[in-house]
Amino acid sequence: MTTIDDLPIRDDLRGKSPYGAPQLDVAVRLNTNENSYPVPDAVVEAIGKAVQAELRDLNRYPDRDAVALRADLAGYLGHGLAAANVWAANGSNEVQQQLLQAFAGPGRTALGFGPSYSMHPLLAAGTGTRWIGALRDPDFGLTPASAVEQITRHAPDLVFLCSPNNPTGTALDPSVVEAVLASAPGMVIVDEAYAEFARPGTPSALASLPRHPRLVVTRTMSKAFGFAGGRLGYLAADPAVVDAVQLVRLPYHLSTLTQAAARAALAHRAALLVTVDAIKEQRDRIVATLRSRGIRVADSDANFVLFEVGGDQHAAWQRLLDRGVLVRDVGLAGWLRVTAGTEAETDAFLGALQ
Ligand SMILES: Cc1ncc(COP(=O)(O)O)c(C=O)c1O
Repeated sequence: MTTIDDLPIRDDLRGKSPYGAPQLDVAVRLNTNENSYPVPDAVVEAIGKAVQAELRDLNRYPDRDAVALRADLAGYLGHGLAAANVWAANGSNEVQQQLLQAFAGPGRTALGFGPSYSMHPLLAAGTGTRWIGALRDPDFGLTPASAVEQITRHAPDLVFLCSPNNPTGTALDPSVVEAVLASAPGMVIVDEAYAEFARPGTPSALASLPRHPRLVVTRTMSKAFGFAGGRLGYLAADPAVVDAVQLVRLPYHLSTLTQAAARAALAHRAALLVTVDAIKEQRDRIVATLRSRGIRVADSDANFVLFEVGGDQHAAWQRLLDRGVLVRDVGLAGWLRVTAGTEAETDAFLGALQ
């Protein structure tokens, strides 16, 4: 049997593993921070109509620049943003890949503060960017002083911040983002995939955009909007950043059907985002219940919770799976991550953990 090693694959990809959260057929799936609520009927109907209306014209390529969708996304974000500030692609992973292609790549470096989102180093590897694994504090926080020291030491071409951070859950203090922007020589990406779940009073880096042309905020419809299967991620930045990613994007990368479905979903955002409060309630319930059981838990501004199991976290992960509850082993010794979903899913998780 031929293996990857028998092929003339790039040397820097040899021995690497693909992103691989298990997709198992389990009753309670709380391992990829999806929104557990299905798309409501009224929105299913609206998306169906919008997609149907495009079918005759599928002989034509889509709007290459997805202008109408970008205008809708800008309207959703507010902060005085317009279509020229926004770029969209098939998930925020693709947006981040395009940013690495445009601003990093061979001979350049990207830095992130671990533990953080595992795709950032994988996207760097795929684009031939050298990855610098900087560190968060032992309590998973990140202070301006620590961030600035590590950035000054490495002078990376691109910095990834993640707020709220996956897998730890906590949002960054704006002073960290400002300190990173002041010390980083290159681009600064703030991955805000979970922004809609933040606790009250947690500001978004969107507010800093007017003063910082090297700042990019990435967002997604995969989480709060419950649109993970639709694959729609986007960025907000100075229009010059949008011009730059257009140099590397594939022509017609965002299908007519994706654009139509995403616009219909956005038009019905009230019906979709109504789940956010219910999910936050379950998140806070998980945090409070685990703490009442004496389990260490990281503060969370996201739709997931990182909790300590002590010892061999993979064995604990397996024992939960044996009880029909799939959570995430992010490879952090002694800790597991669980997604906050429906009340029934929280019941199942808390029961299994007990
Ligand atoms: C921090 C973070 N960024 C981005 C993504 C990817 O989102 P998308 O579905 O938009 O590619 C995820 C998904 O889990 C994530 O946790």
